[in-house]
Amino acid sequence: MSIYGDYIKSVIRTVPDWPQPGVNFRDITPLLQNSAAFRKLIDSFVHRYQELDLDAIAAIDARGFIVGAPLAYELGCSFVPVRKKGKLPFRTISETYTLEYGEAEVELHSDAFKPGDRILIVDDLIATGGTMLAAAKLISRSGGQVVETATIVDLPDLGGSARIHEAGYNVFAVCS
Ligand code: PRP
Ligand code: ADE
Repeated sequence: MSIYGDYIKSVIRTVPDWPQPGVNFRDITPLLQNSAAFRKLIDSFVHRYQELDLDAIAAIDARGFIVGAPLAYELGCSFVPVRKKGKLPFRTISETYTLEYGEAEVELHSDAFKPGDRILIVDDLIATGGTMLAAAKLISRSGGQVVETATIVDLPDLGGSARIHEAGYNVFAVCS
């Protein structure tokens, strides 16, 4: 948890029963509307990662892009999109995974980074952990070194962060 964790949590809205009954959807749009909160969010990640000599930020389609792009800009490293199936035009490698509400596949360009590159994976939220774990496996299969997986929100009751950790990847969450 970051020093701004409680504050960031306070500007995230929970929408019950969306997109289907039983899901408490964590809506980050109030956080994005609040420029001071958004700056604190990006600063939290910059503070944690500025000394870690990262080569790339791999950000997960779509909400991970919102965090990943400003972070890559601030840290002066490259930006790698991990996209939903069918969006990347060049040669890809892919992983399928299950969501809290459905099944999906993520893809990565095969030339997205160099073997051995130090990579941080970012997304907005970890629920079951399926998406983040699929992204981490993709990066590892491509020869990247996953330095950490990072998220704005972790939902620990859904077991995702524990699952990612058990698979051998560090997890950092700004709030839970
Ligand atoms: C959401 C969220 C994470 C993922 C978390 O993305 O942004 O990527 O689900 O769930 P998990 O831990 O159970 O895998 P979603 O697939 O809804 O796509 P979006 O970012 O395009 O809204
Ligand atoms: N993605 C998967 N589960 C989610 C949740 N509860 N809130 C926001 N995004 C999600």
